[in-house]
Amino acid sequence: MNIQQALGQASQNLSASSPSAMLDAQILLSFVLQCNTAHLAAWPEKELSKEQQSDYLQLIQQRQQGSPVAHLTGQREFWSLHFFVNNSTLIPRPETETLIEYMLTKFDHRKNLKLLDMGTGTGAIAIAIAKEKPDWQIVASDVSNEALKLAGQNSEYHQISNITFVQSDWFENITSTDFDIIVSNPPYIASDDPHLQQGDVRFEPLSALTSGPEGLDDIKHLCAHAAEHLNNNGWLIVEHGYNQAQQVTDCFTENKFTKIEQQQDLSGHTRMTAARL
Ligand SMILES: C[S@@+](CC[C@H](N)C(=O)[O-])C[C@H]1O[C@@H](n2cnc3c(N)ncnc32)[C@H](O)[C@@H]1O
Repeated sequence: MNIQQALGQASQNLSASSPSAMLDAQILLSFVLQCNTAHLAAWPEKELSKEQQSDYLQLIQQRQQGSPVAHLTGQREFWSLHFFVNNSTLIPRPETETLIEYMLTKFDHRKNLKLLDMGTGTGAIAIAIAKEKPDWQIVASDVSNEALKLAGQNSEYHQISNITFVQSDWFENITSTDFDIIVSNPPYIASDDPHLQQGDVRFEPLSALTSGPEGLDDIKHLCAHAAEHLNNNGWLIVEHGYNQAQQVTDCFTENKFTKIEQQQDLSGHTRMTAARL
């Protein structure tokens, strides 16, 4: 079997279960062959060894049963950086790059800022910022020790030296009171949301996804306590669900935040709210 035949067969097998069958087939084959996807297009007639065929078939079967592609390959790209991923936390999503773009634009010329990334997961937000702003001092926290282990592995891979990792149930073990920015992509899905039974989220931990009946419990907690850890004029920045913009705005205002700014994702949904103390 050659590359073209393997891809044709696999994408057909995946078409009933995955909305991105051909892309999945390409990513998984390039993972097995340890090459990039451009190589697959350049060498369609290259034969797969028996071992490669068997490894590929096994991955395609796991994907048919729903396993996320990122869990099968153990990696995902975020902000054009390689991240190791596993089932201890969320697989980084493209919409979270909106927060990175916003911070880099808004605080472009600021030196030596102190930033706290809460619920860091793989470390995606903290590491992307640390790469772009090596003079900023970053604290990245998570309640999950497994997630922190993964974030530490990602930080080491990228040779980051300006992040300190802290295990903490939100602000419990956060001692500093002078952050310039607190940023978070917290859990924000309602606990009975039917989407939890579909797609990749079935394989991600509920602790990274859900937050009470409306999905807002964690955001409300962050809004209520952020001021105790921000300096004067400090900013709180959160990602939230596509239909939560008004409730999040109300929550910021009730907690005396001003200068509310919001950003939309690529689909035009307001997915990020930022505000200043
Ligand atoms: C939606 S994920 C975001 C992960 C990562 N920041 C990202 O953007 O890809 C939420 C993260 O919050 C963490 N988390 C959940 N409850 C928490 C709590 N009480 N205190 C701190 N972190 C928490 C989860 O373990 C998870 O890693």
